[in-house]
Amino acid sequence: MKIVNGYDLMDYGKQHKYLLPAFNTTNLEMTYAIAKGLNNVNLPGYIQISSNNLRLSGPEAIVAITREALKDSDVPISLHLDHGKSYEDVKRCVDAGFTSIMIDASHLSYEENIETTKKAVDYCHFYGIPVETELGALKGKEEDIVNEADCKTDPNLVNDFVMRSNCDLLAVSIGNVHGLDIEPKIDIPLLEEISSVCPVPLVMHGGSGIPFEIIREIKQYGMLKVNYGSDLRKAFVSTFGEAYVQGNNTANVIEHSLAAVDNVSKAVEHITRIINL
Ligand code: G3H
Ligand code: ZN
Repeated sequence: MKIVNGYDLMDYGKQHKYLLPAFNTTNLEMTYAIAKGLNNVNLPGYIQISSNNLRLSGPEAIVAITREALKDSDVPISLHLDHGKSYEDVKRCVDAGFTSIMIDASHLSYEENIETTKKAVDYCHFYGIPVETELGALKGKEEDIVNEADCKTDPNLVNDFVMRSNCDLLAVSIGNVHGLDIEPKIDIPLLEEISSVCPVPLVMHGGSGIPFEIIREIKQYGMLKVNYGSDLRKAFVSTFGEAYVQGNNTANVIEHSLAAVDNVSKAVEHITRIINL
């Protein structure tokens, strides 16, 4: 299959009542592994890559690798820019062939967040690409967040924010965290409140480390997309780490890379299947 348009994937997910996993890739092996894992369980989802990775390769290379990874795919998969840090990154990714975009201006003031999101939305919508944005901010790797009370999504702002920014998906901060160092504490009543006033589907960042029963529970509150990064990175890095510990003179990179694809795809299969039980 070709890389699927983000709106089509959202519709497909809603129609079949799927919770769409969005898996972060960093390289060719992880991209292949995500495509393989989703196909093995015959379920749709996203391959996503953070703006951060544009320091290593241009969006054209990422699109080329993703196309190759998906050429035998039988399930709908979109290529999503995760935590797009600037309008320039958004534009580069759309121009290269990304089919879904996040602009993350959650570190800015409320009005600046709307303005930055709106600018990205106008560009993306012209090309028929949906936009995810974030209101509130997550603890963990987002180092500018000082305390939890200030960073959770304020339900009173949700409707105004979505209507004025014209976004298609809203990432929320409800006690979820990035990474595996802090324990997430998901505030279901807050999610319920947000969901009752939010006109677009919701996104949960920081999926790694959230118990699967919680993930399945939040589906009923407008959640459509859940992001998984650390779990896959751990599966990838540990493959090389363990191989090195076992024999540090046998740097058989191709064997280790193939093993890493297998291990990451198993993690993708496990997560995708279990969140859609
Ligand atoms: O945007 C990416 C995610 O929110 C990944 O978070 O590494 O905690 O799974 P995670
Ligand atoms: Zn995130």
